Amino acid sequence: MHVVAFFGSPRKDGNTSILLREAIRGVVESGHEVQTFDLPRMRIRACQNCGGCDKTGVCVIEGDEMPGIYTALRATPRVILASPIFFAGLSAQAKTMVDRCQAFWCEKYLLNRPIPESAEGRKGLFLTVGGMKTGKGVECGGATATAFFRTLNVPVHASLGYRGVDAKGAIREHPTALAEAFDAGRELVRA
Ligand SMILES: Cc1cc2nc3c(=O)[nH]c(=O)nc-3n(C[C@H](O)[C@H](O)[C@H](O)COP(=O)(O)O)c2cc1C
Repeated sequence: MHVVAFFGSPRKDGNTSILLREAIRGVVESGHEVQTFDLPRMRIRACQNCGGCDKTGVCVIEGDEMPGIYTALRATPRVILASPIFFAGLSAQAKTMVDRCQAFWCEKYLLNRPIPESAEGRKGLFLTVGGMKTGKGVECGGATATAFFRTLNVPVHASLGYRGVDAKGAIREHPTALAEAFDAGRELVRA
C-alpha cells in the first residue's frame, strides 16, 4: 500500500518529526511504502478564495508544488497529517496545504464527485504535539484534521495528540508516545 504523509513542522528533528518517523517505521515494517511531503520546505501558496475551483474542483493557482500533492491525495488509500500546535491550531505550513484542499471540497460537496474509494478503503492518521499542558490547541487542530480527512473522502482516522511537550526532542521522554505512534502506523495499513 502507498501511504502519503504530510510533515508540518518547520523545526527539523523536533517533536512532530520524531512522532511521524515512528509512525512511518510502523508502516514500513508492515511492508508498505510512504511518500512524505515536507511542507515547510515546499513552495505552496495560500488559498485565495477566488472561486476558481467552484465549478471544476480544479485549483487555478499555478507555479507552486500543490499539483504533486493533489495527484498523491487522489491516488492514496492512506493519509498521515502531522503538525505541531501553533496558536491553538495547525502550523501555518500544514494549514496552507489543508486550505488548498478546498478544490477537493468543491469536487465532493458542490459537484457530488468525492474521491473514489479504493479496494483498500481510505483511512487517515493525525499526529500532533502542543507545548501547553492545558488549553484547546490539540482539539482545535483535531477539528481541522477531521475537516481535512472528510474532504478527502477519508471516512475514518485515528488521532494521537500530546500536550505539555515543548522543548525540541521532549517527546522522547513521554512514556508511551513513540510506541503509540509506531502502533498507529502499523494499524493504519492493517487490512
Ligand atoms: C509560533 C508558535 C506557536 C505556538 N502555539 C502553541 C499553542 O497555541 N499551544 C500549544 O500547546 N503549544 C504551542 N506552541 C508550542 C509547540 O506546539 C511545541 O513547541 C511543539 O513541541 C513543537 O513541535 P515541533 O518540535 O514538532 O515543532 C507554539 C510554538 C510556536 C513556535
